[in-house]
Amino acid sequence: MDGNGRWARARGLPRSEGHRQGVEALRRTVRHAADRGVEILTLFSFSSENWSRPPDEVSTLMGLLRLFVRRDLAELRDANVRVRVIGERAGLDPSIDALLDEAERTTASNDGLDLVIAFNYGGRNEIVRAARRIAEDVAAGRLAPAEITEAMFADRLDTAGLPAPDMLIRTSGELRISNFLLWQSAYSELVFLPTYWPDFDAAAFDAAVAEYLGRDRRFGGLSARVGG
Ligand code: IPE
Ligand code: MG
Repeated sequence: MDGNGRWARARGLPRSEGHRQGVEALRRTVRHAADRGVEILTLFSFSSENWSRPPDEVSTLMGLLRLFVRRDLAELRDANVRVRVIGERAGLDPSIDALLDEAERTTASNDGLDLVIAFNYGGRNEIVRAARRIAEDVAAGRLAPAEITEAMFADRLDTAGLPAPDMLIRTSGELRISNFLLWQSAYSELVFLPTYWPDFDAAAFDAAVAEYLGRDRRFGGLSARVGG
């Protein structure tokens, strides 16, 4: 979800207004994804690098997170959405940590759309934390280095148990991954849209899906399509 600030600047508005409209786009997108039968939707809401923004912007973003959970959690629960949070939880403000716990707990028994919120998330950080867990197993004598497999590694990532994303959408015209799902996106289809996140809507979502459906996924093998 990128481009909130530029959306606001283009309208002569403060960046905070872009973030507010970004939350509306997020709401819309969750609803639309659920309507479309998407099984898992992962949103990059706040990166481990976003703390370097000016303190007032960070506090606006934290305020919006609180507001979102307070206002939308009951609706998500009733819509059969299951929330899961990925990212580093150690060191977070305890009130934010409790809020994220509450979102997960309240929706834990749902089995509709899996809404994965990447918060204080960084792909490298996630990989390092997984490596630490593996190292602990090795140090404790539970695992030999030669036994380490990709599956074991994936099991120690925050996304353990979730399949890799089929498609990754980045809005706002930037052509970068920016530390999102580095391990998981190895074979994801990347879709880059010029749209600023606050303008992202059902039509943009459907266009991205159409683009995805036109791709030929080979996973390093040969085409499954007739005629290759
Ligand atoms: C994305 O919009 C929102 C978050 C990172 C939380 P930006 O704030 O990055 O908007 P730009 O990139 O400055 O336009
Ligand atoms: Mg940005």
